[in-house]
Amino acid sequence: MEFTKESPILNTICDPYGRRLNNIRLSITQRCALNCFFCHREGEFSPSQEMSVEEIVRIARIACEQGMRKVKITGGEPLLRSDVVQIVAKIVPYAREVSMTTNGIHLAEYAEDLHNAGLKRVNISLHSITPQIYQKISGCNSLSNVKDGIEAAIKHHLEPVKINMVVLNGLNVDEIHKMIEFSRECGFILQLIEFQPIQEVSKQYWNQYYYDLSEVEKWLEENAVKIHKRSMHSRKQYHLEQNGKLAIVEVVKPIHNSVFCQNCTRIRVTSDGKLKPCLLKNDNLVDLLPIIRAGEDDEALREAFKLAISLRAPYWKE
Ligand code: 5AD
Repeated sequence: MEFTKESPILNTICDPYGRRLNNIRLSITQRCALNCFFCHREGEFSPSQEMSVEEIVRIARIACEQGMRKVKITGGEPLLRSDVVQIVAKIVPYAREVSMTTNGIHLAEYAEDLHNAGLKRVNISLHSITPQIYQKISGCNSLSNVKDGIEAAIKHHLEPVKINMVVLNGLNVDEIHKMIEFSRECGFILQLIEFQPIQEVSKQYWNQYYYDLSEVEKWLEENAVKIHKRSMHSRKQYHLEQNGKLAIVEVVKPIHNSVFCQNCTRIRVTSDGKLKPCLLKNDNLVDLLPIIRAGEDDEALREAFKLAISLRAPYWKE
């Protein structure tokens, strides 16, 4: 019998720390037109090749069969792959939810087709709504395209739309309130993300641009009408109300946060087909492409998943 998203989950896998894996971030390319200096590139810094549609879909199916039924397509920028709609359409039958992280530049062109292919929702990276600052951060002047992308995502029900804003000292901190108002107006969820130091991102950048979100979080706590704690990473969502209109702000604060790691239920696949148990570690990858290209069966891939999951360990410990 063919596996579908409705099939019972028979063999969800727990890692050695009791964390039950239920979602996967699948990078389909490391190409991106932007050049954000802080970008962690999903922890992947020297991709050797890209996977074919069939390889991506097979990996997604194996993940879904083992309980990782929330699939997030990531990059680089996924919309730079001309076969992206096909990839989404082929994963949808296996997954409970397929979503995507995008820089938004090409989203206006793709939103309708992605929705029709079964994409549920998008995260759009937008670190500033001031053209000069957007350009300074990303190296591109594509802000208006991104705004069109947000509008298209809402129009085509890729919802809830989430905006990812990495908060950077001296660059966009002053825009947080403007972004909250923008999100209230447009109806998206704003994610305020702490700048994470990744080995390959220059330490100098991190020293200069890291911004501690504690004060912002305190303000949110004092002003929220409701606080919702998500199971993923135990992240908090603050509901702010003004004139009967809601803004939802989520804070992503992983650094030195053992609770974040305790509640991490995701695994990554790099654009060149390696299972990556933790964003911040590079010494425990499990390569899937040699298994696939040697013509091995699904059991071999399931074993590779089990191995990668057995290598998972919380990065931030108490
Ligand atoms: N720290 C925190 N978040 C980051 N992102 C990229 N690099 C970093 C970093 N160094 C986030 C961006 C992007 C998402 C894919 O990852 O918000 O939207």
